[in-house]
Amino acid sequence: MSKNLSALSFRKGLDQSVFDRMVRSGEARGTAEDAATVHRIGEESLFGDAVTLGAVSFYDFLKKQNAGKKVLLCNGSACLCAGTQEALHRDVARHFKPEEIGHICCLGRCHQGAAFQFAGRNHSGLTASQLETLLATGEGESADRYAVVSDLPRPILTAPWTDLADFYAPLKAWLRRDPRELAAELRDSGLRGRGGAGFPLHLKWQSCRDSKGDIKYVVCNADEGDPGAYIDKYLMEHQPHSVLLGMMAAGWFCGAKVGVLYIRAEYPDSIARMNAAVRELREAGWLGRDIQGSGFDFDFKTIQGAGAYICGEETALLASIEGQRPEVRVRPPFPTQEGLFRRPTVLNNVETFANLRPILAGGGKAYAATGTAQSTGPKLLSLDGHFVRPGIYEVAMGTPLSRVVHELAGGFRDPVKAIQVGGPLGGLVPLDRIGSLTVDFESFKNAGFLLGHAGVVSIPASMPMIDYVEHLFQFTADESCGKCFPCRLGSTRGQELVARARAGQGRMDRALVDDLLETMEQTSLCALGGGVPLPIRNALKYFADELQPYFEPAV
Ligand SMILES: Cc1cc2nc3c(=O)[nH]c(=O)nc-3n(C[C@H](O)[C@H](O)[C@H](O)COP(=O)(O)O)c2cc1C
Ligand code: SF4
Repeated sequence: MSKNLSALSFRKGLDQSVFDRMVRSGEARGTAEDAATVHRIGEESLFGDAVTLGAVSFYDFLKKQNAGKKVLLCNGSACLCAGTQEALHRDVARHFKPEEIGHICCLGRCHQGAAFQFAGRNHSGLTASQLETLLATGEGESADRYAVVSDLPRPILTAPWTDLADFYAPLKAWLRRDPRELAAELRDSGLRGRGGAGFPLHLKWQSCRDSKGDIKYVVCNADEGDPGAYIDKYLMEHQPHSVLLGMMAAGWFCGAKVGVLYIRAEYPDSIARMNAAVRELREAGWLGRDIQGSGFDFDFKTIQGAGAYICGEETALLASIEGQRPEVRVRPPFPTQEGLFRRPTVLNNVETFANLRPILAGGGKAYAATGTAQSTGPKLLSLDGHFVRPGIYEVAMGTPLSRVVHELAGGFRDPVKAIQVGGPLGGLVPLDRIGSLTVDFESFKNAGFLLGHAGVVSIPASMPMIDYVEHLFQFTADESCGKCFPCRLGSTRGQELVARARAGQGRMDRALVDDLLETMEQTSLCALGGGVPLPIRNALKYFADELQPYFEPAV
């Protein structure tokens, strides 16, 4: 990420955001990538054509290849495993030309399958007649219903809404205190980031607080791109104030006055609900200058993404907001030192921010009473449509995974042979290992899996594991930012090897595949190329017999 470009983008600021301009022009035309638009944005931002074209051509929603698409079918892992998309494609093809049908990944409708976006709205699980009416008339059902279950004595993240004054009371009480007092509570809470890596929150916030700078930012990573995950989507659409409150607490503690919500375009309802919640806060006098007479100034800005999984990676996300091509950046410097517009920035996941209110209300130690010693607090999981009761499940960290799968969610409605927990880079857990795991970072890591963000995709018994392995390589190849060779080339070569073997055109050399996975794992710059070897190795280990015919016999 170029420092000069960051400085140019800063001059435009968030209100005239360069990236926003790209997204808006894309909305009007179906793509931003025509020479005149790119040139105008390049001139106005002083980025120049090459930089602007490099950025817009990266995004699914802005690139030329996707111009004129009218229906976008979800091709994420959950829809793939639901086996719904071929039939959906056939039905849709009766109404649209082939060039009008595109793909999108993922809509967070993993609890239903048959997910697609039409006229800017998301749909899933429609009956044939509902689909027919929708496509013919443009009108129809898009309700997004799933179970919301809390296994806690008193729900924390899924608690029913009360009212604004009650909800923000703990923050109001803290605004009268010295921010330094919060440091001990954050440390005692043991809260670790929910975006995947489990990084201790108190260290991140303290680092941003300690970084020098008049201007700092809070950024909420609402780019939940893991197929199978709709945890952040649930929080934004049903608990939006828990996210806003957490961001405000971060701003107050770290010394930032602006909170940026970066929300993926695949979640139009989340964008609308978060914007409405910001309006509610403003009307109640909770935004702007000298909030509640505390001397604390804060406001929000929503940025809509444009369809790129890698924008969930924090440095790519920051480059995206700046209007630069969203390539991953080498760290250090970390975002808390040089983040958005090269200013100190605290960036957290949606669910992480949602955990702040219980800490502010009851203190760090009380918060840490839920969960395990190293993984404290509650955790949300999202379960796909293979479960008897698909939905969002709130459990204490440390809860047996089998309790979630078999007791709370009622098991599977059809035969399943493995679950992938934590997105495409998460562990692939065979059914007979579910009983040995608990829902926390350590249990998954020690067993050779990854809890990640805890979206769950079920792999049906009828699906050949080799198909799923190819899907993982393909996903990585499609979503690689291209910055480093091991990921950019390795994922494509891996996909080709598997595709050839699947087609009976040549078995794979196991030593070569192991070498490829090790190279990707050891030398990729970020956890996309570095992370996908984990589930592929899980598949090779636990489904060795099934996959053996695709490899050359050992000599
Ligand atoms: C390829 C890739 C995709 C990621 N996607 C997301 C995402 O969708 N949401 C998210 O919060 N974090 C995602 N992350 C992790 C972020 O980089 C970052 O660690 C996280 O947002 C920090 O917030 P936390 O400390 O609250 O977890 C991703 C990381 C990688 C490498
Ligand atoms: S691992 Fe992949 S996504 Fe990550 S920096 Fe390298 S090319 Fe980009």
